[in-house]
Amino acid sequence: MENRSQWGSRLGFLLAAMGSAIGLGNIWRFPAVAYENGGGAFFIPYLFALLTAGIPMLIMEFTIGHKYRSSAPRALKRISGGMEWIGWWQIAISFVISTYYPVIVAWASMYAYFSFSQAWGNNPESFFMNDFLNRTDPGTFGSIVPSVLWPMIIIWVIVFVILFRGVNKGIELANRIFIPLLLICFLLIVIRAVTLPGAFTGLEAFFAPDWSSIMDGSVWVSAYAQIFFSLSIGFAIMVTFSSYLPKKSDITNNAFITGFSNSSFELLAGIGVFAALGFMAAQTGQEVSEVVEGGVGLAFVVFPEIVSQMPASGLFGFLFFASLVLAGMSSMVSISETYIAGVQEKFNVSRRTSVLIGVGFASVVSLLFATQGGLVLLDTVDYFINNYGIALAGLIQVVGIAWFARELNNLQAHADSVSDILLGSWWQFSLRFITPLVLGYMMIQNLRTDMT
Ligand code: PHE
Ligand code: NA
Repeated sequence: MENRSQWGSRLGFLLAAMGSAIGLGNIWRFPAVAYENGGGAFFIPYLFALLTAGIPMLIMEFTIGHKYRSSAPRALKRISGGMEWIGWWQIAISFVISTYYPVIVAWASMYAYFSFSQAWGNNPESFFMNDFLNRTDPGTFGSIVPSVLWPMIIIWVIVFVILFRGVNKGIELANRIFIPLLLICFLLIVIRAVTLPGAFTGLEAFFAPDWSSIMDGSVWVSAYAQIFFSLSIGFAIMVTFSSYLPKKSDITNNAFITGFSNSSFELLAGIGVFAALGFMAAQTGQEVSEVVEGGVGLAFVVFPEIVSQMPASGLFGFLFFASLVLAGMSSMVSISETYIAGVQEKFNVSRRTSVLIGVGFASVVSLLFATQGGLVLLDTVDYFINNYGIALAGLIQVVGIAWFARELNNLQAHADSVSDILLGSWWQFSLRFITPLVLGYMMIQNLRTDMT
């Protein structure tokens, strides 16, 4: 029997799983996606996606990791020799993400620092795009931007130390610090946002239901896509994390707790972001719909503008960007752990060797995104990863398990043997039919829009 690392407690595992799930997707992706896809009415497809794909897939990944006590490639290989490559494909996606995530975290940490070192307000837009990123022509890569380089080095050192210290003393301990801090910072922001003038208008815009959206297939696709990305499903992360659980661990319950915590955080972010957008609209005399944005634009252009108009802008700017850093770091650690664990098992090297190789390689590649053309490269890579990589990895995995290896009965028996909640037929039905159909449809839709 190999001496596998273990979490020190159930809470430690849950915090690590939540740390992976709760990320930039909750803060800057969910609010805009929900708003654009029916507002209040979006919660119906969203909840449906959570219960028919998100949580079922999470249970499946937790069970695979726990039953086979291996990272994704070896666990899938144990299920069926022909499936090992699926695990490597997922690890490859995680690797790519882990090369650009730290750049975003680096921007956020610089902004957290700027909150104190310089006043917000003098046209934050040009501040980000030109001064700070030092971006010349979008097509040119030019040289590495020094203001991004240093924070990136620090971030990689922190990731290295956390992973080097191992599962219990590294990942678990880090999340015990990151997650409570994140909750505190973010709650303060949300409380501040909802008490600003104009907040209510923002919330009205966010929750106003457009019921016709429920009949729109693309709204459903967006709901499922959000759930997959948000729960870190199909990245080999959750399989790896659950492989470190002790033998006696509740699987199904842990999956429900992780899923609902992540969604609660998303709802909280939606409220905070839209209250802040309502405030900004009131300040500038615009409609909420004119100021809505997601992604990089929301965090690094719109938010600095909002913050600059708030009282105590330095403090709230800091809290917002610190939240991004904390949410990003815990996700970052989880994506990197996938290749650390994979390489360690495959080549039978020590964890420390694997961390040296994995983090060393990823950190060098990540410098590409710290160049002057980095933002454009990041957009492109992120687009392909989100639209093809993730859907494809999830699709192949679920079809492989449910149809090719016909493994669902075995997995259900395993999950039920350790869990309080027994899996009903909804679980197998979701994984056999609903998830593959939705993921397949998603792939086809993306291909079609890209070709036209
Ligand atoms: N789940 C994270 C989020 O919602 C995103 C993520 C996906 C992080 C995959 C790591 C790996 O932001
Ligand atoms: Na998430």
